[in-house]
Amino acid sequence: MKLGVIGTGHVGLVVAAALAELGHEVHCTDANTELLNNLEKGILPFFEPGLKELFERNRKRIHCHSNIQAVVSPSTALFLAVGTPETTEGTSNLDALWKALQEVCATASEKKHLILKSTVPAGTAHRAKNLIKEHSQIAHSIISNPEFLRQGEAIEDFLRPDRIVVGHSTLEEREVMEKIYEPLLKNSSPKILFMDNVSAELVKYSANSFLALKISFINEMALLCERLGANIEQVREGLTSDHRINPHFFTPGLGYGGSCFPKDVRALTETAKDLGFDLFTIESAEKVNNRQKDLFFEKIKTQLGSLNKKRIGVWGLSYKPGTDDLRRAPSVEILQKLYSEGAQVQAYDPVAMENAKQALKDQFTPCESKEAACEGADALLIFTEWPEFHTLQLEQLKTLMRGNLIVDGRNLFDVQKMKSLGFNYLSVGRVSSLKI
Ligand SMILES: NC(=O)c1ccc[n+]([C@@H]2O[C@H](COP(=O)([O-])OP(=O)(O)OC[C@H]3O[C@@H](n4cnc5c(N)ncnc54)[C@H](O)[C@@H]3O)[C@@H](O)[C@H]2O)c1
Repeated sequence: MKLGVIGTGHVGLVVAAALAELGHEVHCTDANTELLNNLEKGILPFFEPGLKELFERNRKRIHCHSNIQAVVSPSTALFLAVGTPETTEGTSNLDALWKALQEVCATASEKKHLILKSTVPAGTAHRAKNLIKEHSQIAHSIISNPEFLRQGEAIEDFLRPDRIVVGHSTLEEREVMEKIYEPLLKNSSPKILFMDNVSAELVKYSANSFLALKISFINEMALLCERLGANIEQVREGLTSDHRINPHFFTPGLGYGGSCFPKDVRALTETAKDLGFDLFTIESAEKVNNRQKDLFFEKIKTQLGSLNKKRIGVWGLSYKPGTDDLRRAPSVEILQKLYSEGAQVQAYDPVAMENAKQALKDQFTPCESKEAACEGADALLIFTEWPEFHTLQLEQLKTLMRGNLIVDGRNLFDVQKMKSLGFNYLSVGRVSSLKI
């Protein structure tokens, strides 16, 4: 099939490359022309494992255009994957979506199937249909097809999903979606779930909110463990040995970040508020998540006292491994606080350094290696569980640092081993020398 993708960011570019992998001819565009020019040269705008290879392999079936007409004209169906960022009130900013839809309406000379890939609040498909009526004589169809990929595992998630959710209202729309995903359905066996548009929109928000809730729950139990002298790893094992409690997204740490969970959790609570009620559980998940960063910062302060002129090493900046994305990464907020209190931060991340330089400017010193980030440090902070952080000999770490404090937001190391090596090692929810 000939398909269009509007918005080639973290989702749209993966969708474009994966649809090409499935054998479709893909035409894509983005409002950012520099991004498109770079794509033409094979330069991808962000790091995603395997994406460059997938993109290159299918290059002959992927066409990038700065002119939307060149995308709309040949395509039977178009995926809209533009950003839907959070407004200051916590709702979703749909300006980019409305703009893209209007551009399609102004350009299309025949009926198109418009597939909402962006995460959009319940009721958006309905509003989109109204917008089409206002801006076009043609009754384009609106299909909701929320995306569940995880950055860092995006290709695998797209090509081997647990389920594909499709919100639609006609048999024709159902058949179009079956045809698009047919090669994928042949190779793997995800469920394809057909439902009405509003239900499909809600699946996406409730899935992210539920996962956020799980993360916040285990973090709250971790805090209890710290106060009671219990061990969250043992508590977690006790919990997840119950087949009703799935271990995924149930690991204690610095809380959730990234471009999706924080904004989607807020947007869902705002949707309920608009309807006149509160989503108490989900609001609590957000509160716990915010507190998680405060607790981490408190641990540093309790141990070091004044941060003025303290040299702080940092391992990992991205909100999770496998991505260079710093959007809503706990590291950014905490590094800004450290800077404002006079600390001298030296940080290393295997892939997120360029984004960190843009986000944090001169608030930290970028380092070329994990070893360099520890040199002469009074304390080491661990924000991201990149595999390479396991490979440094802990004895070497000891000699590189000036102090012995390690505050680990990802529970990378064994508590007893760290203690025996003479580190003042504070992790999340595990017995340590810390008394708060
Ligand atoms: N990042 C994720 O892991 C993820 C996962 C599932 C769903 N989503 C959702 O997918 C959507 C896109 O997220 P993302 O992370 O890819 O965002 P992104 O910011 O990485 O990419 C969005 C792209 O859309 C482009 N754009 C904006 N307005 C445009 C317009 N009018 N026409 C053409 N292009 C336009 C931007 O230039 C940008 O390149 C959001 O709704 C997000 O919530 C994201």
